[in-house]
Amino acid sequence: MARRRVAILISGRGSNMTALIEAAKAKDYPADIVLVISNIAGAGGLAKASDAGIETATVESKPFGKDREAFERKLNETLVAHNIELVCLAGFLRLLTPWFVKQWEGRMLNIHPALLPSYRGLHTHERALADGVKIHGATVHFVVPEMDSGPIVMQGAVAVHDDDTPDTLSVRVLGVEHRIYPDALRLVASGSTRLENGLCKTGNAAPAAALIVPAIT
Ligand code: GRF
Repeated sequence: MARRRVAILISGRGSNMTALIEAAKAKDYPADIVLVISNIAGAGGLAKASDAGIETATVESKPFGKDREAFERKLNETLVAHNIELVCLAGFLRLLTPWFVKQWEGRMLNIHPALLPSYRGLHTHERALADGVKIHGATVHFVVPEMDSGPIVMQGAVAVHDDDTPDTLSVRVLGVEHRIYPDALRLVASGSTRLENGLCKTGNAAPAAALIVPAIT
């Protein structure tokens, strides 16, 4: 099967973008990262992508002000011009309109730093710590018009420690993000997932052991 042509949309440092670029170097990976687009000029991830030999583009959202759809039309033109088949949002700090989401329905993924449907939105690590949850994590999901919703492709969990701060917890969750985003894209790009009644079925690919926290030894 031909490798799927993937674009990554970023606004910042792009560590998840880098994880996807690294994974796609594998010969058997079912996707090629062919384009990285930032809505912020000079975003840190752009230089990293160029260094990795990936084409980059900047489609600034700022000049469009509140006209989100006008910005997205330009974004979409760029994606279509590059024959993009799948889009990965990776720290892309823009709310997307239903129009744009519709263009990429079933073909656009996002990574969120929490175990959805818990902790949608911002400051997920602060809120998880405030609630005293013992397990936290990250989620890769298909994008739907409602923010941080949509069929879940893959989740990864970490233990929350008594002395965690939002910073220490975010580092541990980020480690999981860098594992699950490439794996989730592998599943989707290889056609191993299917959407059924608003849920993503994965054929129970490699079920993992339970994560139980705290562990009593
Ligand atoms: C990550 O925590 C991701 O889950 C969230 O935004 C952050 C992006 O970080 N959507 P990076 O730019 O990939 O390093």
